Amino acid sequence: MTTNRITLNNGIEIPAIGLGVFQASPEDTTAAVEEALRVGYRHIDTAAAYGNEAQVGEAIRSSGLARDEVFVETKLWISDYGTDASLHGFEKSAAKLGVDRIDLLLLHQALPSAFNLTIDAYRALERLLADGKVRAIGVSNFTPENLEQLLAATTVVPAVNQIELHPYFQQKDVQALNAKHGILTQAWSPIGGITTYTPGQKSVLENETLQEIAREHGKSPAQVMLRWHVQEGRSAIPKSTKATRIAENFDVFDFELTADQLAAIDALDTGVRGGPQPGFITLEDHAFPIPEA
Ligand SMILES: NC(=O)c1ccc[n+]([C@@H]2O[C@H](COP(=O)([O-])OP(=O)(O)OC[C@H]3O[C@@H](n4cnc5c(N)ncnc54)[C@H](OP(=O)(O)O)[C@@H]3O)[C@@H](O)[C@H]2O)c1
Repeated sequence: MTTNRITLNNGIEIPAIGLGVFQASPEDTTAAVEEALRVGYRHIDTAAAYGNEAQVGEAIRSSGLARDEVFVETKLWISDYGTDASLHGFEKSAAKLGVDRIDLLLLHQALPSAFNLTIDAYRALERLLADGKVRAIGVSNFTPENLEQLLAATTVVPAVNQIELHPYFQQKDVQALNAKHGILTQAWSPIGGITTYTPGQKSVLENETLQEIAREHGKSPAQVMLRWHVQEGRSAIPKSTKATRIAENFDVFDFELTADQLAAIDALDTGVRGGPQPGFITLEDHAFPIPEA
């Protein structure tokens, strides 16, 4: 039976399923993280840009769990890219989270039009890793081209590339390149959230194939998608602020999808991205200041 543990390329263990907190208000974040830790999650994914790192830290402390029992992942926003700015970005996140060391720190986006700045930010992450301030470093929303450029200019292979990935948008080219370099693919919108909160898109949760597989296992479509990620070796960070769904999304370790069911889900890929085109992220249009702790 597949377990909730994955070993990263530097030997650090990460729980495959974590709780995501994008779009969770500060008030809801504390309760959601507390509930997640209560039902067994040991991994939380936040970001400087989400404005709720402090509440994630607060909930971890109030859980009574030892600091090293919870894997804390966060992301540097583009406005904090650059050697000194990124080192300071780490300090802001660590202070808000109330931790000395962050388990996994990612670059939230590549800046294709300012790739030198992206490289400077990644080199700052390498320095934080060497100094023991973070246990692993990685990237998010990196295309194959971004990854190749980064790998050519830096020393530490990212441990993780967190990308949009659900049955309707599987990015098999990125997954293959990640695998080639020993980079863990981590799915954001793993149950297709982006297809539910983006107007005009069709919710993956309503897909008939997923609903049929869910019926066969006595599980929900969300659980089937999360199980699909885990069985295919990915990490996934479903977001919910509702206690029942938080528990549901973690209850995926007591059933097994067949090879045919995995293949049927693999075949649902439409190639249509729900989120922003990574190439269109620019400082001019997307930068905003990340407050001090
Ligand atoms: N790196 C990036 O650029 C990036 C971008 C987007 C997201 N992320 C990360 O990935 C995490 C997850 O992505 P996401 O929030 O976009 O999408 P998601 O986790 O696929 O879906 C979340 C949505 O589905 C609902 N939901 C949760 N569990 C459900 C269930 N069992 N049944 C039915 N509906 C359910 C949630 O609503 P309720 O809360 O009301 O339950 C929410 O609207 C984020 O929180 C964030 O940590 C990263």
